[in-house]
Amino acid sequence: MDHFLYKDGRLYCEEVALEAIAERVGTPCYVYSRRTLLDHYQRLAEAFAPLDPLICYSIKSCSNLAICRTLAEAGAGMDLVSGGELHRAQLAGVDPARCVYAGVGKTDGEIRQALEASVGWFNVESESEFRTISALAQETSRRCRAALRVNPDVNPGTHRYTTTGKRETKFGVDIERAEAFFETYGRDRNCVLVGIHLHIGSGVNSTEPFVTSMRKICGLIDALVAGGHRIEMLDIGGGFGADYETHQAPPASEYAAQLVPLLLGRVKKGLQIVIEPGRTITANAGVLLLRVLFVKSSGRRRFVICDGGMNTLLRPSHYGAFHFIWPCRVRAEHVPPHRRERMDLAGLVEVDVVGPICESGDFLAQDRHLPPLGRGDLLVVFSTGAYGMVMASRYNSMPLPAEVLVEGRSARVVRHRERYDDLTAHEREPAAIFASDGPRRMLDG
Ligand code: LLP
Repeated sequence: MDHFLYKDGRLYCEEVALEAIAERVGTPCYVYSRRTLLDHYQRLAEAFAPLDPLICYSIKSCSNLAICRTLAEAGAGMDLVSGGELHRAQLAGVDPARCVYAGVGKTDGEIRQALEASVGWFNVESESEFRTISALAQETSRRCRAALRVNPDVNPGTHRYTTTGKRETKFGVDIERAEAFFETYGRDRNCVLVGIHLHIGSGVNSTEPFVTSMRKICGLIDALVAGGHRIEMLDIGGGFGADYETHQAPPASEYAAQLVPLLLGRVKKGLQIVIEPGRTITANAGVLLLRVLFVKSSGRRRFVICDGGMNTLLRPSHYGAFHFIWPCRVRAEHVPPHRRERMDLAGLVEVDVVGPICESGDFLAQDRHLPPLGRGDLLVVFSTGAYGMVMASRYNSMPLPAEVLVEGRSARVVRHRERYDDLTAHEREPAAIFASDGPRRMLDG
């Protein structure tokens, strides 16, 4: 259940009217519902409970500390892809031992940081990365565990930018190379290779690619075990879909119904399962609030110009992603039957919803039917909890939006709206690297 509902023509997040938040905090503003967040987390946890998995929330989907803390308190570990995400996980009170660390481009500094923190597993994506982690583990006398990220060559049917499990993406190691990888590195003492990781893509709206890849991976695990290798952990990744439109994605129970039977026998024999969900937990737990600045026509097109665009929400312009958009306050006849269902078009106007950024690619929706809008109206962009704020930029020198977390009747600002000072904070004291006089030499400090 998503706790964003219209009451008397006004949209509420749990028991707080979104208009009231916009008045106090301004726009653009991301608003998250704690109840919705936890509902989605619990649904997934319950569905996969027979496997007793470690649920590593994928921080990259929504990395605000308040969100991370909420999920950590509910029992989640974290899926990390950078030193910055490890830093956030630690600030949120997550035990690094309950974290997995993936990513194709880990720097030496980040590897040292993760060794120092004793992260649960490094999800290793190449031979060269493995050798580097092993060498740094030896150098720092910090033994670590690793899982090999395997690319099963399965098409997840997602946007090509979020497809990772097909051959010839930069992620993981081809499944055909996995046995040789274990032969070469499987007995390393510094970096102990005891797991398999896969993540086939993000926003996978059917169960079939998961099943196909899991069958391939189970075959691989059997071959590795027959070859004398110990496999303690299988990280099946994230990628479960979210309902951007009603019933677009299978519910958590459906993914689990397909995957649990494939893995249960192995779990009973001691295999630890890890899952890395992001979007399925956070997408519908957040909305973006925008104010309409102007409405204008250009030829036959009608533009609703808002105070946030591709700088606040990149997904429509980058992936052509659909987000349901609707006014915060509507007349009775325009209350959507369900907020993501398409409506009877009577009384609606066809518009493009765009932002203030100086690019024609700056749009949030095109050819969309909305109730008539005017200057000052509040718009809500739904299902923006995942990959919304985290992908926001300061392009055109627009300060980053505020973030608010609602719980019941209370609302807290969990990230302040940036000010102009924040835009220039790192530019205030230019620091010389090379002297301009005489031979080029490094300056101290
Ligand atoms: N695990 C790994 C290794 C990942 O790379 C990702 C996402 C996840 C887990 C979480 O996937 P999720 O459960 O959220 O689908 N910016 C794109 C999505 C990029 C996903 C990147 N990796 C979007 O807005 O759709």
